[in-house]
Amino acid sequence: MSDKHHRQIYQPNREYAKDARIKNMCEYQDLTRWAEEDYEGFWDSYAKEKIDWIEPYHTVLDESNTPFVRWFEGGKLNVAEQCVDRHLDVRKNKAAIIFEGDRGDKQMVTYLELYYNVNKMANLLKNEFGVKKGDRVVIYMPMLLESAYAMLACARIGAIHSIVFGGFSAEALRDRIEDAEAKVVITADGAYRKNKPYMLKPVVDKALEGKTPVEKVCVVERNGEDITWVPGRDYSYNELIKQQSPVCAAEPMDAEDPLFLLYTSGSTGQPKGVQHNQAGYILWAQMTMEWVFDVKENDTYWCTADIGWITGHTYIVYGPLAMGATTIMFEGVPTYPDAGRPWKMVEEYKINQFYTAPTAIRVLHKMGENEPAKYDLSSLKVLGTVGEPIDPPAWKWYYEEIGNSKCAIVDTYWQTETGGHMISPLPGATPIKPGCATLPLPGIMGEVLNPETGEKVEAYEGGYMCVTRPWPSMIRGVWGDPERFQKSYFGDVVKDGKPVYFTGDGAIYDDDGYITITGRTDDVINVSGHRMGTAEVEAAILKHDDVAEVAVVGKPHELKGEGIFAYVVLKTALDDAIYSDNIDMMKAINGVIKKEIGNIAVCDQMLFVPGLPKTRSGKIMRRILRAIAKGELITQDTSTLEDPSIVTTIEAMV
Ligand code: WT7
Repeated sequence: MSDKHHRQIYQPNREYAKDARIKNMCEYQDLTRWAEEDYEGFWDSYAKEKIDWIEPYHTVLDESNTPFVRWFEGGKLNVAEQCVDRHLDVRKNKAAIIFEGDRGDKQMVTYLELYYNVNKMANLLKNEFGVKKGDRVVIYMPMLLESAYAMLACARIGAIHSIVFGGFSAEALRDRIEDAEAKVVITADGAYRKNKPYMLKPVVDKALEGKTPVEKVCVVERNGEDITWVPGRDYSYNELIKQQSPVCAAEPMDAEDPLFLLYTSGSTGQPKGVQHNQAGYILWAQMTMEWVFDVKENDTYWCTADIGWITGHTYIVYGPLAMGATTIMFEGVPTYPDAGRPWKMVEEYKINQFYTAPTAIRVLHKMGENEPAKYDLSSLKVLGTVGEPIDPPAWKWYYEEIGNSKCAIVDTYWQTETGGHMISPLPGATPIKPGCATLPLPGIMGEVLNPETGEKVEAYEGGYMCVTRPWPSMIRGVWGDPERFQKSYFGDVVKDGKPVYFTGDGAIYDDDGYITITGRTDDVINVSGHRMGTAEVEAAILKHDDVAEVAVVGKPHELKGEGIFAYVVLKTALDDAIYSDNIDMMKAINGVIKKEIGNIAVCDQMLFVPGLPKTRSGKIMRRILRAIAKGELITQDTSTLEDPSIVTTIEAMV
């Protein structure tokens, strides 16, 4: 079957759909209609059913101070209880988390063990480090069981965690520590990657040089490599944990108390601390786990993300545990020891739902085309992707070779700010099309709008991906900067006189009303499913003494989705600089990027140009630079530029 534009349509597997939570499109439509007709009633019903409230709420949704909305006001709960304690009656001996180390070492904790471990860590934070409700704790960790304990321990005592991805540099870590005014950092000596130890603690040491708000550092000893211990500041988790009581009362939290911060890139040089609160976040994390991955009691679910990103928060730790699932945490990389590693794990653990990023699918395809055939992948039921649009060839390989043309592919579209999935197929219901996120989930008022008029666009017209009503797991603020919150998300699109949430992404409808995400409309690029602000990379590059000006754009990349392309204007001509050639200069600049941000932001290509195309008012014309990087023809009128000849000069250099 195909649609009017000849896109192939794949119907859900009928056998599978029989037992799915949402079994067909009628059920999907019913839920969607319910939410449209009685928005608060819809959410009220799920909030009552899904959450173990300590005290009931009195108001479902308070929009009086929009866009600062409040969900489930008056209610009290504890997210750690929601994820752990409440399962003890029915599944205390079920595997909660399975850990697979880089070198194939395995650990497993049941819900009961998880309960004890979280409580011990909560006591450690409370009693040894004096962490109190509302305090910020930075977690700079590899993928370890202790990382999940740390998150849930914070949730248990009401501390706000801020996880910083382990690939970020000392500078980036310091910025995030300072912005959140964290008083404790939880880290590890290091971990293993490709059978070799790598280190995190030295990065923390560097980040904490000079004056910082951090009083204590808790170090999980994972790889046993030598590290420096600062007396009075650094403590071994492995030592302290032995003395902690396995019982710790959970703090009753208000529905709208903050749960965590997660820094993400925007269109300015400064990353923003996206704030998520308690009840709404955990509710949607659990509901989407159930609807989109459709995990059953005896299933084993694996999401390959890192806990440093929102996917790791919602779909490795909070969502799976809230619903009582078995979730896998993997320390290693998918291509070690070879590109069959994930498929070997699918066979070994009989994994039922597998969730990864398009960039990983492309790499696994390219490096291990014949690997899937070597393993028994018949346990798989649902395959997920997230992070960037998935190209149809990668989609097809995933569908045919990994899913044996029997599994649903859920192309889940969402963001750090949305807390959970927004637009996604439902595995038992939605007919799917390659590269298409399909339809908004029930309860999510996702619409593609014309940015000028605020009206819904026609099929194939293209517009801005917006959400027109607040949803429970939406971002509640940018830490310390309410104005930036308002400006970043509610400034661009106005519908019926009301500013609506704009995602920053462009999208189009097809004739079936399916939504295809076309990519960012702002100066944010998507490298291997990670969000990078061009302004952030530019700010780092400008720290190099020889750089006068720079403009960074995204350029399509075979494996990464987008690569980073920088146009650099040097203060002195290259021949006069101390660097022997472009390569040398590029290495030096990338060195600065590594120091300022981390490896994830290094440029794939750098072009040393005599100047940048600017308007007469001095605005850099990125659209032109993007087109040049892609090798496209410049269709735009360049005569209004300050120096039109620069365009031809640069074009000739590429
Ligand atoms: C941006 C959000 C959501 C967790 C991982 C990234 C892009 C995400 C899809 C998808 C097309 C997607 C968007 C979005 N994106 N999922 N299924 N199809 N694009 O989280 O770092 O907050 O990035 O990733 O551009 O805005 P993030």
